[in-house]
Amino acid sequence: MTVLVGHMSADGSTREIAERIAAGLRRAGRVAEARSLAEVADAGAYEAFVLGSAVHGQRWLPPAVDFLRDNLDVLRARPVWIFSVGMPDALRGPFRRMGPKEVPVIEKGLPAGLGYRDHRLFSGVVTAARLPRTGRIVFRLMGGRFGDHRDWDAIDAWTARTAAALEGPPTA
Ligand SMILES: Cc1cc2nc3c(=O)[nH]c(=O)nc-3n(C[C@H](O)[C@H](O)[C@H](O)COP(=O)(O)O)c2cc1C
Repeated sequence: MTVLVGHMSADGSTREIAERIAAGLRRAGRVAEARSLAEVADAGAYEAFVLGSAVHGQRWLPPAVDFLRDNLDVLRARPVWIFSVGMPDALRGPFRRMGPKEVPVIEKGLPAGLGYRDHRLFSGVVTAARLPRTGRIVFRLMGGRFGDHRDWDAIDAWTARTAAALEGPPTA
């Protein structure tokens, strides 16, 4: 079975997480390829899906949501895992609790009827230059730290669990 690790990134950190996940799945003996969701011509060619998007304004990027909507029939019939890339680990103090609270908000923005085995919110890279002025001010007031907050161990552990949960014996 070929697993699509589909990603939608604005600045590259989600793409790099997807590439890491695909490499981890391959290490676990699965056939997996990382591709931008904007490039996937035939979702029906894949037997399982690990799909992720950067989060802007507590939502997946529009082309990623479009992919889910356009391929809902295929996705509903096959195993799907999803991941979001935001900034929970960039926050400190009382605001740190806001990270997990974002998960149901993100899920509300996904097409109704999409089923998935798991949804994980990872932290990505937060750069001052990419946030709008007001966003930058709010982020700083919340004690936010700019930088690369990706937790590769957590990403690898989630990948290993996902690989184990994929049906059938490893094929690669
Ligand atoms: C304009 C903008 C809005 C963002 N909004 C959110 C948000 O609502 N929630 C969140 O957790 N992270 C938010 N982030 C942080 C990004 O999701 C994070 O930087 C992520 O790593 C970006 O992924 P990418 O490098 O693949 O584009 C925002 C970033 C930008 C630039």
